[in-house]
Amino acid sequence: MARVLITGSSRRLGLMVGELLVQQGHRVVLHARDARRAVDTRAALPAADDVLVGDLASIDAMRSVAEQANATGRFGAVIHNARVGYRERYLVTADGLSHVFAINVLAPYLLTALIMPPNRLVHLSSGMHQGGSAGLGDPQWERRRRQAAQAYSDSKLFDVLLAFGVARHRPDVRSNALEPGGCRPAWMDPAHRTTSARHT
Ligand SMILES: NC(=O)c1ccc[n+]([C@@H]2O[C@H](COP(=O)([O-])OP(=O)(O)OC[C@H]3O[C@@H](n4cnc5c(N)ncnc54)[C@H](OP(=O)(O)O)[C@@H]3O)[C@@H](O)[C@H]2O)c1
Repeated sequence: MARVLITGSSRRLGLMVGELLVQQGHRVVLHARDARRAVDTRAALPAADDVLVGDLASIDAMRSVAEQANATGRFGAVIHNARVGYRERYLVTADGLSHVFAINVLAPYLLTALIMPPNRLVHLSSGMHQGGSAGLGDPQWERRRRQAAQAYSDSKLFDVLLAFGVARHRPDVRSNALEPGGCRPAWMDPAHRTTSARHT
């Protein structure tokens, strides 16, 4: 039995992984971006040990999530699942960063640095990482024409590089990245047309 933290687990894949791990007898700590979503997340998986709260677009909140995580003890595994997608409008965070970069790249990096090292790190990447560029010339998209899909692809490639970089520098931590395959929102599935779109 392991204790597992899953970031961005208020819905979809993150929540589903939490449900599966609980069914398999693991202890799961979920994470939601704000207090309101945390209430919904807790209701969606009452068997979870806890729900951490913090908007990963903000460096202060990333630090807070790491502090909350460490306060619960050391994890067997941390799954970096939170993301914003490839159709995002370009936004600048309070820290002056592209929000795709902040949430998809900086958050897993900072959380990895600040959370007590688990045995296992899992980074949710995407098949789109194969079209990503690892160039560090303009990671905030300040000088290039903005392309949402490219920004997402780059962020997912950075996640792979982070996973492999940690694996190289921390041989005691099993650090991997994976592509989960295509997962459509439930509301796109005719069998689920009656379900709420609140969490899609
Ligand atoms: N779905 C696919 O087909 C697919 C394909 C390839 C890779 N992936 C990868 O698999 C992972 C999960 O995918 P998904 O489709 O389940 O993603 P999703 O539906 O977009 O859910 C992402 C999760 O991240 C959270 N999140 C987003 N911004 C946040 C922020 N600023 N602070 C805190 N939490 C935040 C969301 O919370 P809110 O509810 O508050 O927004 C949500 O819980 C992602 O890393 C994605 O890149 C998915």
